[in-house]
Amino acid sequence: MSTRIALVTGGTSGIGLGIVRRLKQDGLQVAALDLDSEHNRKVASEEEVLFVPANLAEREACKNAIGQVEEALGGLDVLVNNAGFQHISPIADFPEDTWDTMLHVMLTAPFLLSKYAWELLGRSGQGRIINIASVHGQVASPFKSAYISAKHGLIGFTRTAALEGAATGITVNAICPAYVRTPLVDRQLEDQARTRNIPIEEVVSKVMLEPAAIKQLLEPEDVAALVSYVASKAAWGMTGSVLNLDLGWTAR
Ligand SMILES: NC(=O)c1ccc[n+]([C@@H]2O[C@H](COP(=O)([O-])OP(=O)(O)OC[C@H]3O[C@@H](n4cnc5c(N)ncnc54)[C@H](O)[C@@H]3O)[C@@H](O)[C@H]2O)c1
Repeated sequence: MSTRIALVTGGTSGIGLGIVRRLKQDGLQVAALDLDSEHNRKVASEEEVLFVPANLAEREACKNAIGQVEEALGGLDVLVNNAGFQHISPIADFPEDTWDTMLHVMLTAPFLLSKYAWELLGRSGQGRIINIASVHGQVASPFKSAYISAKHGLIGFTRTAALEGAATGITVNAICPAYVRTPLVDRQLEDQARTRNIPIEEVVSKVMLEPAAIKQLLEPEDVAALVSYVASKAAWGMTGSVLNLDLGWTAR
């Protein structure tokens, strides 16, 4: 039986790194795509996975990335669209270039990578596209207009791709976590405090965990465990699903 191959975008930090580690542990051959930097190369090399340098804000880079994986590993069974970033700002002040880049990295790139990988995933017979959306793919919070628009769009793309992928055994699902303890969350503590005019020590309890029923940040391993199941052959019947891992946020 041949080893299944996975590509994880944003694979050298936070949730993506957790997913890389978990899929490797599950016995998959894993490639980590991320921005080209010495630090990111070092992380991939320490994890003993193929590093695919790419800026997902660029269309050509998405195409090249899939080509690189095919050339180095010979195919693709699991594509995890995870890369993303946050910008906190009221709409009136939101930088237009930042809006464009966020939409490209978190919505257009998952489309492009899926498009270029479509044939390889179909050839797999058990292809998987797993989109890391967010609880903010389903509900809104102020000051995150681009992020929330991209994540809502990603859920729409997930459902459409699921319908199209069924004929060739490609399943497409979205995972929607609430706040996860990662560098992305650490970076927004200060911005949230400034934008909302509250002390930085209160951001986690008053903003991040306020809508949640379970008052605890998730860890990357929690998301990776769900990815592990969705990526497995056992999950063949699950497609077009929007899977909440949201501490009860949307139960109200
Ligand atoms: N942390 C959370 O609370 C949380 C909650 C729900 C969803 N998410 C989603 O999970 C995903 C991962 O987030 P994280 O918290 O692990 O963040 P993170 O900052 O730790 O990791 C994100 C990774 O994406 C990469 N990336 C960003 N822009 C890129 C680009 N242009 N090209 C290639 N790579 C790029 C970064 O270099 C980084 O390695 C994101 O899509 C995020 O929206 C995070």
